[in-house]
Amino acid sequence: MYCKKLSRLVLRVSCLKPTSVIGGPLTSAYRTVFSWTAVCQQRSLRLQRSALMEKDQRAVPCQTSLRSVSQTTVDPDELRRFQSLANKWWDEQGEFAALHAMNDLRVPFIRDNLLNVHRGRQTGKPLAGLKILDVGCGGGLLTEPLGRLGASILGIDPVAESIGTAQLHSSYDPDLRHRVSYRACSLEELNADGPEGAEGAEGAEGAETAAEGAGQFDAVVASEVVEHLADLETFAYCCSLVLKPGGSLFITTLNKTNLSWLLGIVVAENVLRIVPAGTHEWEKFISPEDLERLLESNGFSVQSVKGMLYNPITGAWSWTNSTAINYALHAVKLSDYPPVQANESSPHPEDPTAAQSGSTHS
Ligand SMILES: C[S@@+](CC[C@H](N)C(=O)[O-])C[C@H]1O[C@@H](n2cnc3c(N)ncnc32)[C@H](O)[C@@H]1O
Repeated sequence: MYCKKLSRLVLRVSCLKPTSVIGGPLTSAYRTVFSWTAVCQQRSLRLQRSALMEKDQRAVPCQTSLRSVSQTTVDPDELRRFQSLANKWWDEQGEFAALHAMNDLRVPFIRDNLLNVHRGRQTGKPLAGLKILDVGCGGGLLTEPLGRLGASILGIDPVAESIGTAQLHSSYDPDLRHRVSYRACSLEELNADGPEGAEGAEGAEGAETAAEGAGQFDAVVASEVVEHLADLETFAYCCSLVLKPGGSLFITTLNKTNLSWLLGIVVAENVLRIVPAGTHEWEKFISPEDLERLLESNGFSVQSVKGMLYNPITGAWSWTNSTAINYALHAVKLSDYPPVQANESSPHPEDPTAAQSGSTHS
């Protein structure tokens, strides 16, 4: 049903021209704010830039073994955009309404996939005992429901104003006091700070810490975040650093297709105004295949990818077989990542060089 409605919407939008006369408020709003020619020009410029960027990336081989966490995932323009919206997070009818509605899909997706791995949890608080890191938590829209399911959860976001909103909002719920904590930082800063950094240092008084150090999280969640990052490679690498072996990574994001440009940017931002204009840059979107390749090169095995569809009429999300616009991904960190070199893993007991080689693998 949603598919039919959406395809009618796509048809309608693709038939519109700046001078077309179709009745209704949508069309008049459209005529005042929207220039199809300008959007198309913008689009071809973006495609050209994207092709150039991809060519550059192909020219530089990925040096996984030489990576350090000195790169930043932070794009200052993105932070400015979210800073200006920091007091809007909990307005369920406002700019983040679609994220509020997305909880209907993403919370069960995360819960059920975690329960597949960690069975036998207590009913009512099925995620009790699990440590989750919510990267790019914003105002805590997803952090809070995961905390209510019993997880000990640390939400991080480089926008301090959003963290302030998240802390204030969660403080109203005594049930969250001992499980949810927040910190204003990026993932690479959390890694750089070491074990102390990963503690829920800014949690409410007496809060149980979300983690004792790097490699200590059972799950990392990055929902609607990767499309806002400056460096996805660094992000994937840092995710694998903070996760326990066998830990889960959950990502929701937008595919890099013509349809995601049309519906995710043109329609959602410029026509229907579901999302503030300028929220998304199509160049930063990533296909599930490219994301899977990137994660696999960082020690993950992708378990599932599911298409998600937003119905702007009902304001609800549903699962769909198509990943053409939005999708959710679940990956698991392989136990042997970073891979142990054969000659490092089990030095011969009588090998005189073993002690000098300084191998730290056990
Ligand atoms: C679309 S919002 C999603 C918020 C939240 N995950 C949710 O779904 O409710 C994107 C969030 O990513 C954050 N963000 C942007 N760049 C980031 C980075 N480099 N590292 C972590 N978070 C970042 C923004 O500040 C913003 O809060």
